[in-house]
Amino acid sequence: MIALDASAIQARLSETRTDVPVVNVYDSIDSTNAEAMRHIVTGGSGSVWLAEQQTAGRGRRGKQWVSPTSSNLYFSMLWRFAGDTSQLGGLSLAVGVALSRVLTAIGMRDIQLKWPNDVLHSHKKLAGILIEMQADKTDQVWLVIGIGLNVNMDVPSQSSITQPWTDCVSILNVVPDRNALAAELISELTGSLNRFEHSGFMSFAAEWQQQDLLQGRSIKVLAGEHTKVGEAVGVAEDGALLLQGPDGLEPIYGGEVSVRLFEGAQ
Ligand code: BTN
Repeated sequence: MIALDASAIQARLSETRTDVPVVNVYDSIDSTNAEAMRHIVTGGSGSVWLAEQQTAGRGRRGKQWVSPTSSNLYFSMLWRFAGDTSQLGGLSLAVGVALSRVLTAIGMRDIQLKWPNDVLHSHKKLAGILIEMQADKTDQVWLVIGIGLNVNMDVPSQSSITQPWTDCVSILNVVPDRNALAAELISELTGSLNRFEHSGFMSFAAEWQQQDLLQGRSIKVLAGEHTKVGEAVGVAEDGALLLQGPDGLEPIYGGEVSVRLFEGAQ
């Protein structure tokens, strides 16, 4: 696999834009999200961190993100959010749409988005999104948008992944150029974040719904001690999952909520 290369990524970006962001590439780091968080304010909005390997890759709900060397894309973008936290609903869904566009552009078909922010192919997880947030001393909201994309997962790591998964090579039968992928992701994400700031999740909703894996399915929602069952009937304007349950229509928000499809259906 060709090594990640910051100047190759920046050279690609400079073909289509004048505002090329800072791109940092590491051989090994604890977590690109953690590194981006350490550069809040000083790192500059739009800057990106990538690593060949993460020794403490973070997944959602405190889980580990298996991050073997030179196999995948571990990507984090720092973003100064021009709004307040009440406007962030649906952001992770918008990021999912941006990632799906990049994957479609390299030849994948039928990408599935699973609320709130999993990207799947043939019901197997292809990528995950972890957004972290912090306000600075002036109450300015900073976001770190972390994306882990399985590109060519090595055999020894496969057994440590606890859910059905896939990678780009299994889907495309070729090894994609990770530098090109990273450049596309930076472009698409920058455009999407600007659009999200101006128009919110509504401008992504139609695209999200076309790829909504849960739509019309019977689901179980685990929220702490509570379990809720019902039918997933889409997403609301603020990015909430809409659950049609025994007590009527209920919006489900992120945080500690997890969604499991019933047995037999993925
Ligand atoms: C998930 O649990 O689905 C989210 C996984 C997010 C993993 C990415 S890899 C790059 C960035 N750095 C991290 O430590 N996590 C995110």
